[in-house]
Amino acid sequence: MGRGIRYRHIERVLSEHVRSWYNVLEIGCGGAVYKDLFLNHVGVDLPGNPYETQDEKNADVYCSGEILPFKNETFDLVFMVACLYQIPYPDKVIKEGRRVLKANGKILIFDYNLKTTKRLKRLERRGLNHNNVWSPFSLASLVKRSGFSVSIIHDYSLTEQTLKWLSPLLKLRVVRYSIIQICQIKEGWNIIVGEKKGD
Ligand SMILES: C[S@@+](CC[C@H](N)C(=O)[O-])C[C@H]1O[C@@H](n2cnc3c(N)ncnc32)[C@H](O)[C@@H]1O
Repeated sequence: MGRGIRYRHIERVLSEHVRSWYNVLEIGCGGAVYKDLFLNHVGVDLPGNPYETQDEKNADVYCSGEILPFKNETFDLVFMVACLYQIPYPDKVIKEGRRVLKANGKILIFDYNLKTTKRLKRLERRGLNHNNVWSPFSLASLVKRSGFSVSIIHDYSLTEQTLKWLSPLLKLRVVRYSIIQICQIKEGWNIIVGEKKGD
């Protein structure tokens, strides 16, 4: 495992969506800190991956997620952690992800939430890096437009202590979506799951 932080909630969501035989592609893998969760994991990152040194390489393939050197329908699962917000044309990456996914394959996007992407955008104001700012809803509609059926996952373990009294109401979509909305006022993550729909 290379450099980078491995988050428990990401590990948990990934484990819930993977089967042992899955071929898994990680875009923007950095130090590939989730690699050991999978039997068949391919990590791609840009040449000059900032999480690598001369002596320690973590990506299997060096390329942009915008043009993936894989055949159509190669993978069962494609995922990205804290990567999509950095990419100027994120829809290109999602469409490429869709192309290399098998029918009914899944894309999992773990990205920073509204509050965090706003802060990062301010930091990048005079820098060179692009930085998307998005709510879970705008990110979800981006994924939907690329031909996925989409759901937003809220990790209740992050809020369950404060929101315990709400648990019986979580069955209601309006309550779940309100919590997701409220959670954008503090720093955190958006998690989107897309399932590849037929062409
Ligand atoms: C904030 S780091 C996250 C790294 C890793 N996913 C993690 O969770 O530790 C973002 C990563 O996305 C990569 N990245 C940025 N733009 C990319 C692109 N167009 N294609 C592939 N990777 C990209 C960067 O090189 C970097 O390794």
